[in-house]
Amino acid sequence: MSAGLNGIELCVFDAYGTLYDFNSAVARHRPAIGPGADALTEMWRIKQIQYTWLRNSMGAYAKFWQVTGEALDHCLAAQDIAAADIRDKLMAAYLALDPFAEVPATLERLKQAGKRLAILSNGNPEMLDPMVRASGLSDKFEAVLSVDAAQVFKPDARVYRLVEARLGVRSDKVCFLSSNCWDAHGAAHFGFRTVWVNRADAPDDRLPGKTNAQIKDLSQLPALLGVS
Ligand code: LAC
Repeated sequence: MSAGLNGIELCVFDAYGTLYDFNSAVARHRPAIGPGADALTEMWRIKQIQYTWLRNSMGAYAKFWQVTGEALDHCLAAQDIAAADIRDKLMAAYLALDPFAEVPATLERLKQAGKRLAILSNGNPEMLDPMVRASGLSDKFEAVLSVDAAQVFKPDARVYRLVEARLGVRSDKVCFLSSNCWDAHGAAHFGFRTVWVNRADAPDDRLPGKTNAQIKDLSQLPALLGVS
């Protein structure tokens, strides 16, 4: 067990990129998109997240579904992709993204060990709920929390505060997990104990908030929490 991670009651997971692979949307429609598929998926994610930060700065919250669609519109235009119905197909795929391979077994193991599990995501409930249902993982989570309740995106502290407000668990008993380094820093800065799921083997972001540990994927989490 990692020294800083004893006594965790609740594991709170980011959704997109941490539990669910947002690249799986474009991957499903690769033949229709053509050679620009990899560039599209990368740019779409970057724009989607940029738009959330910009909307936070502007005080102009909109549901993540809208932001995701607007980011996609920009990227399709920027990359001159005009395949028939591709926008609708990619947005539909976003409602049923694949979980990463290790996720179901890891969640089951943590649950068996008595850990409480929840999601805290930028996604609005209308997009999170169908995705979690489609993946067959609904019974693993006691709550799927959305920033929509705070009307602001991560990494605003009002988002992370939803966990204690809704689930009654103090921040220092929470282990927050995100593959988005900036989200992990935001959560650590807020006061959660935090693990960065560094799937892309990226260098650390130079941001406030000190993460407790870094793992390559979620299969390493049970050992980190002392769950055998
Ligand atoms: C989320 C994004 C940040 O699920 O991945 O909140």
